[in-house]
Amino acid sequence: MHNKYKLIYEGKAKKVFNYGDVDKVRIEFKDDATAFNALKKEKFEGKGKLNCLISARIFEILIKNNIPTHFIELANENTMIAKKIKVIPLEIVLRNTAYGSLCKQTTIKPGTFLSKPLIDIYLKNDELNDPLLTKDRIELMNILSSDDLDYIINLTLKINVILKSFFKNIQLQLVDFKLEFGYDFRNNILLGDEISPDNCRLWDLNQKNDTIVSLDKDRFRNDLGGLIEAYSEIHKRINDFLEPS
Ligand code: TMP
Repeated sequence: MHNKYKLIYEGKAKKVFNYGDVDKVRIEFKDDATAFNALKKEKFEGKGKLNCLISARIFEILIKNNIPTHFIELANENTMIAKKIKVIPLEIVLRNTAYGSLCKQTTIKPGTFLSKPLIDIYLKNDELNDPLLTKDRIELMNILSSDDLDYIINLTLKINVILKSFFKNIQLQLVDFKLEFGYDFRNNILLGDEISPDNCRLWDLNQKNDTIVSLDKDRFRNDLGGLIEAYSEIHKRINDFLEPS
């Protein structure tokens, strides 16, 4: 089908199109899942729609809590209208519980609760395999001012407080998540990208023992199966909580 909107960027999980006004874009969520810098790739029918609907809900919650985000509205089930931003090529990861790469690169045991959130910043660069950065390296690359970096880090900590408590309401442990930010045409910093089980680790708290039940992209990363079922469960819990029948 011919798309009347001009494609301006295609990433691993989303396509971005120009939209009407020059300061807006249409973001279409794809059904593709990738892991380990796309070494692993698979299509899951319905994933794009679920991530788009989940992200829209989460952005609405953040906006209500005065977090500046790019989200404007849903255009349809797998497309959102957002403010156009110039994406800052940094991936800001916040960890509440140790898991994933933190445990592969350190001696910290998986599942260890961190007494304060850990922020890890990676370069968004597939060719370089998204390396972990230091504050000094970020400064050397001249990607953003140190004030803007501090602002982004503080915003991430605030977002964590909001999201951790929201997910707890729906019996989910927010283990970690990855955020991306960008500048709008007025040079304001906005939260961009998506907030979904693709970029958050969410563990089911409805477990009698200590077994870890991942309701996120680890189902694909770690070959656990049941990805769509897990994402549907997250979507259902969010909707049931926000619109109780
Ligand atoms: P990590 O433990 O693999 O570093 O992942 C930390 C969090 O960041 C986890 O919630 C998954 C998310 N993430 C992304 O969204 N994109 C990525 O490319 C990577 C590596 C992690």
